[in-house]
Amino acid sequence: MAPASEGHPEPPRPGAGRYGEALFRPEQPGEGDRIDHAALVYDPFTRQRLRSLGVGPGWRCLEVGAGTGTIARWLAEEAGADEVVALDRDTSRLEPLAGPRLRVHTADLTRIADEPDLGTFDLVHARFVLMHLPERRALVSRLAERLNPGGFLVLSDAADVPDPADPHSAYRQTLNAMWRTLAQTIGTDIAAVRSHPHALRAAGLSGVAAELVCPPLTPGTSLTAFWSETWRRMRPDLLIAGGLEPAALDEALAYLDSAGLAELGPGMLTAWGHRPGRSARRGGVGSGGVRSGGVGSGSRRTGVDPATVQRPFAQAPPVDTSGRSGEDGSKDRPVPPTGVPRCPSRPDAPWSPRCSCPRSRWAAPWWRRRRPVRPRRRSPPPAVRSLLRRTEPPSPSPVRASPHRASSTTASPPRT
Ligand SMILES: C[S@@+](CC[C@H](N)C(=O)[O-])C[C@H]1O[C@@H](n2cnc3c(N)ncnc32)[C@H](O)[C@@H]1O
Repeated sequence: MAPASEGHPEPPRPGAGRYGEALFRPEQPGEGDRIDHAALVYDPFTRQRLRSLGVGPGWRCLEVGAGTGTIARWLAEEAGADEVVALDRDTSRLEPLAGPRLRVHTADLTRIADEPDLGTFDLVHARFVLMHLPERRALVSRLAERLNPGGFLVLSDAADVPDPADPHSAYRQTLNAMWRTLAQTIGTDIAAVRSHPHALRAAGLSGVAAELVCPPLTPGTSLTAFWSETWRRMRPDLLIAGGLEPAALDEALAYLDSAGLAELGPGMLTAWGHRPGRSARRGGVGSGGVRSGGVGSGSRRTGVDPATVQRPFAQAPPVDTSGRSGEDGSKDRPVPPTGVPRCPSRPDAPWSPRCSCPRSRWAAPWWRRRRPVRPRRRSPPPAVRSLLRRTEPPSPSPVRASPHRASSTTASPPRT
């Protein structure tokens, strides 16, 4: 099998390899940065979803295909999970993160049935992994079997939302060629992602729900860097397996680098469900009920069914989708963690519903928004006005008095 990015003497054959073999080999320079570009954009959404499901102290979590470990580390260090197992075929980027609460496990997900010692979990999370594995449907069932009663399986994968009015642009041709190439070489199925909710139901999970986030593809963002890097890396495959013209790829790459870039890029579909039954820690397997944390609290278990109280993103504080670490996009600047909502006027400050800045009114969830103040009536109400008309002699002045002056001079209706 010809390596993906080393000159390609031969066209890649359909089904020629797997993720990390035929494409996106982990040892390629810059592969970790490429994964990080996407993580920077999607981590805030993932964290928010996991928090709303209640992840926190007391939870045991499995991060499948953990990549560079951004979510595994967050679960262990910020969400406060008791134990996080970060599983990947290639754990070279995860090893430095290992600690008392973060265990790194090298394994092939497709052979997870051979790993009985892994145990069971309150959360199993897989992001941008299952879409690349042809046996995804069977894997959903196997991952669901790893859940404790009440535990959550959360799956996130890419979802493309093409513009029907733009079937021929270089950008669209390149995206289509990419999905074709991924399907032919490693078995990626972008269409199957939409059926994640059905796969979760078929695996016996309850409270199944799904959502789609499409962060903007605009100049200079991490998302743009991710796609630009992905396409450059896939160039030989896109031209051979994807049948893309070199000129179209060059034009698409130039578009990504241009100031005029404005696209609804591929987004992330997240589907989740929980294993029926009650957490063993809260009263025994199969006794009904669901374990969950409070909405937004992300820590304590309250016994509230999360399926009924999840806070939709539309009502949540704003999420920074730029993936930039600092105002100038520099990764080196110290900034609050990306999961923390920011004040819309001062991105360096955390957002709070009590924030007094004028734009915060729009950042607040609708139920917290201040009602607009209605202007006070200056003229008397109609009933008083008609009474005044009856009791007042007509004005001798030919100039019409302004309603304000009229009301101030005749403000007090005669008492009867
Ligand atoms: C696109 S990256 C996503 C990384 C991470 N989940 C994230 O969202 O940032 C896919 C990851 O899945 C891992 N992976 C792919 N196939 C795998 C398999 N069969 N078993 C275990 N890990 C696998 C890759 O090594 C890589 O780290």
